Order: sequence, then structure tokens, then C-alpha cells
Amino acid sequence: MKNQIPGGLTWPQEFPGVHWIDEQEANAVLDVVKHGSLFRYYGIKPPHHVDDFEQAAREFYGVKHALAINSGTGALICAMTALGIGPGCEVIVPAFLWVASIGAIVQVGAIPVLGEVDESFNLSPEMLRRAITPRTKLIVAIHMAGSPCDMDGLMAVATPLGIPVLEDCAQCNGGTYRGRKVGTIGRMGIFSLQLNKNMTCGEGGLIITNDDKLYERAFSAHDMGMVRKNGRLAHPEDYALSWGQGRRMTELCGAVAGVQLKKLPAIVSRMRASKKRIKAGLAGVEGLSFRKLADADGDTAPFIIMLLENAGTAQHLLTQLRENGFGSAFRIADYGLHIYSNIVALVNKTPLSAAGNPWSSMENRQSAYDYRQGACPYSDALFARSVLLPVPSCLTPAHEDAAIATIKAALHSGPAAAGKK
Ligand SMILES: Cc1ncc(COP(=O)(O)O)c(C=O)c1O
Repeated sequence: MKNQIPGGLTWPQEFPGVHWIDEQEANAVLDVVKHGSLFRYYGIKPPHHVDDFEQAAREFYGVKHALAINSGTGALICAMTALGIGPGCEVIVPAFLWVASIGAIVQVGAIPVLGEVDESFNLSPEMLRRAITPRTKLIVAIHMAGSPCDMDGLMAVATPLGIPVLEDCAQCNGGTYRGRKVGTIGRMGIFSLQLNKNMTCGEGGLIITNDDKLYERAFSAHDMGMVRKNGRLAHPEDYALSWGQGRRMTELCGAVAGVQLKKLPAIVSRMRASKKRIKAGLAGVEGLSFRKLADADGDTAPFIIMLLENAGTAQHLLTQLRENGFGSAFRIADYGLHIYSNIVALVNKTPLSAAGNPWSSMENRQSAYDYRQGACPYSDALFARSVLLPVPSCLTPAHEDAAIATIKAALHSGPAAAGKK
């Protein structure tokens, strides 16, 4: 596989936030190190970076509560704990996801249930209804690969049934749906600040909500099972007293996250501009269509998903992209732990302990599901004929032109084109 794309360039690696790191992040980290105050609640000099980040997050997302966490997975587990999810609960997730969204459900002792995605590559509101049972206690709306879900459609299914929606915005930070920030439409929203996200501090997470009790419960879960007043542990009301998971964010991460949050709108608009330009350059190419966007203006655009007429053409396009230096392109069916049936631990129902939980626990005995390929046939068919290309946050017009030319050439020489000659 070549590294160079046409024009003698290289297609940059993903890591959207990383391309924007400069002396601002360096100075913020130095400030923490110089003062030796690496823990968010006390230190030689009173720490403030995680507090400042949470304050900035409340303003940015326009929410009452923001809680910094040390990973997106941790944020999911704390949010699910706050929402009371545990044994006896079924939690719906889309067939296109990330392994952590399933892992969090298993960690709290609940049963993951797969929902089909549609051409938006997010949960289909229409097909969601089929996955709901009397045991459904949560729907996780994952805004996959940068684009918001059809939140009106999902809320219209969930709300009348009283099922809460948790928005997993790990891959869509800075995105909006009909003018509202993702993460603010369901009961709670979570974000990941891991390296390959729209903004990053290397490893980190965030929970947002407007609900006071859910916030306190999540806080207690992320810390030591209690609340804090002015940074000191305090006994909470009964509803928030629990067992802590030790998922606090460090000052080092808070310092970087605070700077990156300021840059997030610029990072997203850069990716949006590149994606728009590449899509415009490919308009009218026969046999090529794009993922349906629930809100094109709210797309954060770290990826382009291309739909081809069949799996053979998708494989041909992928081969051409890879041979021309676009090593980060994938056929979605082969996109690792983003596809339910590629997750061996899910397919095998690997238990958390010798007791077999959660799949064999008494409370979950009515929830028998198969997670092998074929469990979501509509999604499987889409995955087979689609190709994903990352849109790095530092592309130049020359990079964009190279992508357009390579995709056009591939589809003019592909199996479909050859058949028509
Ligand atoms: C959709 C989704 N949810 C959750 C996570 C977990 O985040 P983290 O890696 O910060 O634990 C990720 C991370 O890649 C993700 O893509």
C-alpha cells in the first residue's frame, strides 16, 4: 500500500483536535506541572483547570450541569448508573457503534439490544420500534461518525413510552441537530475526549445534563459515592449515595480540554468545509451516493460515507483508494469494532465473571439475543456496500482534489462501469 496520494502529498492522519495543538495547550499543561497541582480537588496551589473546563462546557452546550470524566467509556458507565440501569434492563444501541457503548451496558449488568441503522448510519426511528420490549429501559442514540441522529424521530418513539434517551456524542462533539447542540436533547449526553475525537485531551470524557438529580448521581458514581461541597466530600441525599468508580479527570487533562473546547468550532468548520468541497466535486458520479444526513448543517464532518450499488463496487473503490495512498479508508463492513458482529466478546456473550453475568443472570433471563452477523440484516446490507473516508482537520484544496480525482477514477474504472462498456 502506497503512502503517497496523487500530487505527491500524504493524506494526513485523523486525530482532529491534535492538528490544532499549539503553545496554548503547552502553556496550560505547564501551568499545572509548575504548581504541582495535578489533582482536581486539592494541591499545593488551589487547582482550577477542570473546574474552568466544566464551566466553559456548561456555557458552550448551554446546560445546567457538566461533569468531566477520565474517559468516554467511564462517562457512559456513570451516566447509565445515574439512570438506574442494571440487571433486568435492556438497552438499545445501533448496529453501527463503538465497542465501548456495548461494554458500558455489560459493565452495569444490563443486556445490549441491537437496533437497525438506516442510510443515515444512525439508529432508524422506524425500525427502533421493533427492538423495544417491556424491559427496554434506555435507548443510546449514538451520533456516529460525526453526524447527528434523527433526534426528532427517536424522541417521538421513546418519549411516549417513557424510555430515556442517552446521547453518545463521542464522535460528534460540536454537532447540532436543528439548532440544538447534540447531547442536550436526550436526558443526558456523553462525550469522549480521546485522541481521535473532534477535540481531545488524550484521554477524557464529559457528561452533560439539565437534571439535578441525575447530575448528583453521576457525580457520586464518578467520584467516591458521595457529593462534594467546595471540593470536600459531603453526604448526599439518599438518591445520590452510592459506590464510587474513581473516574475523576486530572488537572493535566482539564487544562488541555479547556483550550481545545475553545478551538472546537474552528476544527469542526474546517472539516465541514473540506467535506462539502469533496462531496461537491463528486456530485453526479454515477452509482455513488452519500450517507443521508439528518441535519447537514449540524454534521461535524470527520468522515465521508459513500454508498455504492453493491459490495463488489465498494470493494473496488476501497482497493483503489488504498492503492492510491488513502490508507485510512475502510469498507464499513470491515471497520473493526464499529460493527456489532465484529465484536467477538459480544457475539460470544463473554461474561464479566464466572457467574456468567450479565447474560446468565436471573434478572436477564427473558432477554435472549443473538449478536452474530445477520442479527441486523438491513444494516449488514448497508455496511457491505459502503466505504468510509476520514476527513482530517488540516486538508488543503490539493488534498481534497486528490481525493475527488481518485474516487472518480475508481468509479469510472470499476466493475459497474466495465459492465456498461
Ligand atoms: C461512540 C463512542 N462511544 C464511546 C466511546 C468511548 O470513549 P473513550 O475511548 O474515551 O473511552 C467512543 C470512543 O471511541 C466512541 O466512539
